[in-house]
Order: sequence, then C-alpha cells, then structure tokens
Amino acid sequence: MARFLYHQLRTDIKDLDDYMLLTQVGYFGHHVEKAIKHQNKGARGLDKRNRLFELTKELEKRDLREEETLKWATHIIEEFDSYQSIYIERISSDLEIEKREDILDFMKKRTSVRFWQNKTVDKEVISKIIDTAFICSALSCNRQTLRVICVNNKDSFEGDSNNNSLQKKAPHLLYIANDDRFFTDKYETSLDVGSFCSSLMLAASALGVSGCWMYEGKFHDDDELRKKFGLSKHHYFYSVMALGYPLDSQEKPPRLNVNKVLDFYDL
Ligand SMILES: Cc1cc2nc3c(=O)[nH]c(=O)nc-3n(C[C@H](O)[C@H](O)[C@H](O)COP(=O)(O)O)c2cc1C
Repeated sequence: MARFLYHQLRTDIKDLDDYMLLTQVGYFGHHVEKAIKHQNKGARGLDKRNRLFELTKELEKRDLREEETLKWATHIIEEFDSYQSIYIERISSDLEIEKREDILDFMKKRTSVRFWQNKTVDKEVISKIIDTAFICSALSCNRQTLRVICVNNKDSFEGDSNNNSLQKKAPHLLYIANDDRFFTDKYETSLDVGSFCSSLMLAASALGVSGCWMYEGKFHDDDELRKKFGLSKHHYFYSVMALGYPLDSQEKPPRLNVNKVLDFYDL
C-alpha cells in the first residue's frame, strides 16, 4: 500500500492515461477523505491533498464528463483546507428502509441459473445492473479499475449445464477484467472483482435477470480478447458471467448453519 502510494505521488500527472487519472482521483480522494476524519487533521494527508488538487486540475482540463467525481474531490479538498474540527457528520436517524426482512429474504433467494429463456436483455437493463453493482460494491481504496465487456449472443440459447456450453449459449456473456497497474497486493484485484460480481448477481436478480458466475472458464485466449475488446496488456480477465432471463427454477442449495461459519470473540 505505502509503496504504491509514494510511487504514485511522484508520477507525472500528464503521463497518466484517462483511466489512470480517474483511478488516482478515486484513490487519493479516498485517502484525503479519511484524513479529514483523523484527529491530526490538517497535517495528516497533506501530500495526498496536494496530489488530489493537481489531479482535479488535470481532470478539469480533460473532457472526461465525470462531474460527480470532480465535485466530490473538490468538496473533500475544501473540507481538508478548512482546518476545522474533524469531519464527522452525525446521522440524524437510522436508515429508513421499509420491509427489511423482505430485502433479506430476497437476497437469500438469489441463485445461480444455467438455462435461459430464448430472449435477450435490453442494453438499458444491463447498464442498470452494472451501474448498480459498481456503485454498491466496496472497492479497495476506491480505485475503480474494473472493466466489463458484454458480449451478446445472437445464435441459439440452447445447450447444456457445463461451462463450455454455458459460454456458447448464454444470451449475454460478461467478461470482467481488472487493471493490475494500480495494485501492490496480489489479491486485491481479484477481491475487487469478487466484490463487484456478488453485487452484480444481486442487482441482476432485482431486475429478474439471472446467471452463472464462472471463475475457471478459460475458453478464450487472453491476448486475442484484449485485442478484440481494445483493452491494454495490463487487463486480466478474472471472471466470466453468463446472464439472461431464467428458464430453470433452480433450487437454492442450502448453506451451513450460520453457527458453523460465525464465531463471536469478546475482547
Ligand atoms: C468464484 C466463483 C466461480 C464459479 N465458477 C463456476 C463455474 O465455473 N461453473 C459453474 O457452473 N458455476 C460456477 N459458480 C457458481 C457456483 O457453483 C454457485 O454459486 C454455487 O453452487 C452456489 O449456488 P448459488 O449461487 O445458486 O447459491 C461459481 C461461483 C463463484 C462465486
């Protein structure tokens, strides 16, 4: 983490490609945001604040249409510079969510599906699923380095339950790649993909779309796919997700009793 941070502090902002620039705004924004909630506010995180300031200037210069990110980063810098008490906005009341038990029941009913109806999912629905999953996933240091390529099947949606067949017949096949330039820990890239894919499956279920996440589904050549999708050599395809409107009412496999996976330990 620290090695990455100090290396990135020194890189020339003009040399960053647009994705790297946005990643750094997310990453340094996250660190400054933590610094304004620290007792040592003002001194702690000053180098990161300065980097974020330079990054926002560059973001303004390039027409990347990421106004919300720019607004967020600018607000964090202003708050950092105000040197007031630590920035904790107390919540006024508990989150107002109706039907909590229904939401939990809905989440528990999500299941993998390997057979789909003979129809495709509209582009807008797929975008909504990815948008929701992306925003609700926790991502390491808010880097946001994931890329999703949705390949639409135009042939037959009939086939079998094995991975090879799933990838041939699924109405939509999502390739989920991550850019490893931004990470020092070898597990972080895959953890981000895991976080995102879990949210993706839930968001899809909310819109009546189901599918199957495949980790070891390498029926492709990475170099060829990167070339075809216009991704850089830094992108690695971590997962493939088959999606569509479900045909099969797949039984939900029971999970172990929660006591088998959860222990409480009092300090
Ligand atoms: C990382 C990961 C990789 C998976 N890989 C495959 C796969 O290659 N083929 C497959 O049919 N299912 C795959 N699955 C789906 C699991 O088999 C499925 O989630 C599990 O059996 C539990 O069923 P449920 O999702 O309906 O609760 C994968 C799931 C995850 C999280």
